[in-house]
Amino acid sequence: MSKNVQRAKFGSKIGVVLATVGCAVGLGNIWRFPYMLGSNGGAAFLLVYILCILFLGIPVMITEFSIGRHTHKNAAGAFKEMAPGTLWPLLGYNGVLAAFLILGFYSVVSGWTLEYIVQAFTGSLQGKSVTDFATEFEQFSTNPYRPIFWTLLFIAMTHIIIICGVEKGIERASKVMMPLLFFILIVLGIRSVTLDGALDGLKFLFKPDFSKINSSVVLSAMGQAFFSLSIGMGCLITYASYFNKETNLQKTALQVTVLDTFVAVMAGVMIFPAAFSFGITPTAGPELVFITLPNVFGHMPVGWLWSFIFFVLLALAALTSTISLHEVATAYVHEELHFSRKKAAWLVSAGVTVLAILSSLSIGVLREYTIFGLNFFDALDFLTAKIMMPFGGMLVCIFISQRVERSVWVDEITNYGTIRFYFLRTYLFFVKYLAPIAIGLIFLNELGLIELLGKVFK
Ligand code: PFF
Repeated sequence: MSKNVQRAKFGSKIGVVLATVGCAVGLGNIWRFPYMLGSNGGAAFLLVYILCILFLGIPVMITEFSIGRHTHKNAAGAFKEMAPGTLWPLLGYNGVLAAFLILGFYSVVSGWTLEYIVQAFTGSLQGKSVTDFATEFEQFSTNPYRPIFWTLLFIAMTHIIIICGVEKGIERASKVMMPLLFFILIVLGIRSVTLDGALDGLKFLFKPDFSKINSSVVLSAMGQAFFSLSIGMGCLITYASYFNKETNLQKTALQVTVLDTFVAVMAGVMIFPAAFSFGITPTAGPELVFITLPNVFGHMPVGWLWSFIFFVLLALAALTSTISLHEVATAYVHEELHFSRKKAAWLVSAGVTVLAILSSLSIGVLREYTIFGLNFFDALDFLTAKIMMPFGGMLVCIFISQRVERSVWVDEITNYGTIRFYFLRTYLFFVKYLAPIAIGLIFLNELGLIELLGKVFK
């Protein structure tokens, strides 16, 4: 990387945490988590998800922070600097590519939130039946033009913030939005649990049926943990490259994880009691949030205002995540391929536009075209969340424990000995053995290889 590239830094301590929370908290928590949980056995999924967060998420996050802050580089540049002349930079490219592909479907769902803002504001979400919401969502999402219009608008908004710079755009947006989002989630959660028949929803969310746990549930929960925490793909390496030397990496990882998990669980509390109360099946899939919540708003005084505020916040939460995804790719193109930052951003936005149009159409007019039985939208989701991110996380752990001298990352994580390394041994055990082995086994199991070996050695 050329040394003269000016790198920004986050301005304040709270700004660091909020911007990173902004990157982690997004549609993954409020849109993807409930529908994944709903389609994968309810509370059993939640249990496996929490285990993945604790045992894989936190160690991988601390590791990525240490790599990013140590090198002050983008995802690919970081590995180039720490392991020059090896194949490790491929791990960075995996991250950059994953960010790009995620943006391809994430922007589509982000676009949907804009449509719902307008509908909420014009009162079109009021006075409708449960079936109306489902039919209208189906009609909207399969329409060849309308969702694409919103998606393009969303990509344009992301693009503008990216070229205005990291510090002001991301930090400021996150500072205002995050606390507001927490507040509205709590209000909607309370409304949802006080609806008739809400108890069944709470049981579905919190009372595990262990017989539901199988290899696909475990893979889905692991993928969701990686997706939600934005780990395994260099996003947090890129963000940590903007941290300053005083940032406490362990504390930041813990704060981000706790807040991210809180938002996901609150989204569950908001969705499932309401879904059960209105007779919406929890396995509805990607439309779950969009068909459940309007019913909740319909049962609130000045419902249109609540729905308007909610969708605005959801769009903003999505925006702080699309910014972070875009930043991973833009920082790479700018710093490694030596394009100006502006040109790099244009290149990324143009590529994402093509992917996003295809993803949006793949739900409607192009739904016949599938890849391994999945439409383009679902294929991008599957490939990134269930393969590229966990795989990236596994390799990051192997990288730090096998390739990097211990003193380097211990120094980074302890800010050169000025703060304590809590649970050093546990961390070491997790990154050296537990995380890579667990992720590897989950992959093998999903591929059916463990079952096969069991049969061979019977
Ligand atoms: N974690 C974000 C969410 O839950 O919506 C999605 C995401 C953002 C994934 C950034 C990966 C990433 F690099």
